[in-house]
Amino acid sequence: MAARSEPRRGGGGGGRRGACAKLLCVWSVCSALSAAYLLYLPLPSALSEPLKLMVVAAAFRGVSQAADIGQSLGLVHHIRLINTVVTGFESLVPLDYEHIQTEDTEFSGVQVRVYQPSVNTQDGLRGAVVFFHGGGWSLGAPKLGSYDLLCKKMASELKAVVVTVDYRMAPDVRFPVQFEDCLQASRFFLQSEVLQLYSVDPQRVAVCGDSAGGNLAAAVAQQIGRDNSTAGKFKLQVLIYPVLQALDFNTASYQQNQKIPILYRELMAHYWLEYLGADPELVHLLLLNNHTAHDQELADPHRAKLDWTRVLPKDVTKHYKPVIPATGSPGILQRVPGLLDVRAAPLLADLEALRSAPRAYIMTGEHDVLRDDGLMYVRRLQQAGVSVTSRHYEDGFHGCVSFAFWPSYFAVGIRAVDDYIAWLRDHL
Ligand SMILES: *[C@@H]1O[C@H](CO)[C@@H](O)[C@H](O)[C@H]1NC(C)=O
Ligand SMILES: *[C@@H]1O[C@H](CO)[C@@H](O)[C@H](O)[C@H]1NC(C)=O
Repeated sequence: MAARSEPRRGGGGGGRRGACAKLLCVWSVCSALSAAYLLYLPLPSALSEPLKLMVVAAAFRGVSQAADIGQSLGLVHHIRLINTVVTGFESLVPLDYEHIQTEDTEFSGVQVRVYQPSVNTQDGLRGAVVFFHGGGWSLGAPKLGSYDLLCKKMASELKAVVVTVDYRMAPDVRFPVQFEDCLQASRFFLQSEVLQLYSVDPQRVAVCGDSAGGNLAAAVAQQIGRDNSTAGKFKLQVLIYPVLQALDFNTASYQQNQKIPILYRELMAHYWLEYLGADPELVHLLLLNNHTAHDQELADPHRAKLDWTRVLPKDVTKHYKPVIPATGSPGILQRVPGLLDVRAAPLLADLEALRSAPRAYIMTGEHDVLRDDGLMYVRRLQQAGVSVTSRHYEDGFHGCVSFAFWPSYFAVGIRAVDDYIAWLRDHL
């Protein structure tokens, strides 16, 4: 009996084990398929490392969905939750550049961190870079992770003083506070007594920013350029895939790249509404370009500045057609005046105002909704007689410069960082 029952028990166990194994097998295939489904995004192969980007995008989507659920349950503003995760992740990035001293202080009441390479006193005066981080005017941790490393890398390789401005962000504050914080900190730093304190040559100060930080850098550079009361001026501006306008959410690049991570077209429109303190429901209207329909007279003075069909060459705009509805939503430009404010949308400045802007380096990526914002600004600055170096990456995507450091680096991010720092080394 015992002898016979053994194999039976064994057989029964084997059957259960077999069933378990089958179940496990089915479960694994299902999870692999659903993971692949969640991860899968049709991405152009010309993009830098599309598979890696898919994983990054899936992580962003997961966090963003969790944040949306948190907000709909009334637990937390979705931006706050995303920022908590970004900050947590950024603090994992290892620190390097031990020879760079950092000091957290305030310039005109605005929080800043100053990075200084250790130097001999005989070395004389140094150059400086004032940096504004990106993150849709609402996200980002300038003193942590990749931004911290980027500033240290600039300080180290340029042997320059770097000031990163920890401006206040949405939803705590709205336009123009972010802009004003950056402007006030810059004006404070550009005073001759302050520059002297940091051994900085007043003729060698640059302003630099990525994404929303590029927007702030362009706007602050314009303001300081035409400001007669400021003695100190910026010599150079470096704009890394800057956001420059909110009147056309259907430029060729917005159309072409609307589903390319990590900056989707709709997300960019949401960031604008958060920055300008407007109703998030207006996003549908913006995406249709209802605010700049033919019957919106307030938009008329700006149409030529944004006419990418004329400003940009055909090999850039390809087959894409402009979207200008005959009739739009009445009164929207009065209700959200920031949409027409040059301090929010530096591309709208007239040529006279652009003439006093500093020499520029503008970096753009082919697979970025903001490509045409950047390329149009290149053209407009050139029309105003400003010298511009336009650096376009055929495999570039939005945010790649933040992916130039361990653990998430992309070849194009590393190249883009090295290239703009090399340009600063030659011109600062
Ligand atoms: C700055 O100076 C220029 C020319 O000197 C003048 O046209 C302009 O009105 C001045 N701007 C301000 C804000 O005072
Ligand atoms: C856009 O404008 C048209 C014409 O006024 C209007 O019918 C439509 O509802 C508007 N769309 C949105 C999303 O507001």
